[in-house]
Amino acid sequence: MIRLASFALAAVCAAMSLPAAAQFAKPEDAIKYRQSALFVMSQHFGRLGAMANGRVPYDAAAAAANAEVVAEMAKLPWTAFGPGTEGGKAKPEVWKEDAKFKERQQKLIEETGKLAVAAKAGNIDALKAQFGPTGASCKACHDSFRNQ
Ligand code: HEC
Repeated sequence: MIRLASFALAAVCAAMSLPAAAQFAKPEDAIKYRQSALFVMSQHFGRLGAMANGRVPYDAAAAAANAEVVAEMAKLPWTAFGPGTEGGKAKPEVWKEDAKFKERQQKLIEETGKLAVAAKAGNIDALKAQFGPTGASCKACHDSFRNQ
């Protein structure tokens, strides 16, 4: 029984240490996954933008909830850019300039983290102040790594 349990644990550990690409059954799944995460993130980011720009009334609870989703989604797409998953709207540079691509991911995670904190402050000025820098972190990556 104990041996069986430790075997199961070893199998789980082995699965967790597989290369990122191996998490997906096929490259198309990885592409679909990262595009889906980016799409969902951008939907919630857009709702924050609408509030920051005054297109919809400011709602503190909705802002906090949207920013929370953005910050969580910002962590997800990156394991789906593994070797052999070239394609989608991603430029080949993604697989050539690894350090720069990672740096852009980190910047996004940092800025969206600050956005979540700002949104929880419960005032529109805090949201506005952090919306721009977060958007700039999207653009900085897209300029180098995404086909427009
Ligand atoms: C570290 C780089 C990077 C950052 C930062 C980044 N993106 Fe992207 N984004 C990409 C790449 C690469 C693609 C193309 C993915 C593909 O098609 O495989 C993409 C695709 C997208 C898409 C298209 C998804 C689809 O439906 O195909 C949207 C929308 C998007 N990004 C929005 C955003 C927003 C909004 C932000 C900031 C809050 C952001 N991205 C930050 C790299 C980035």
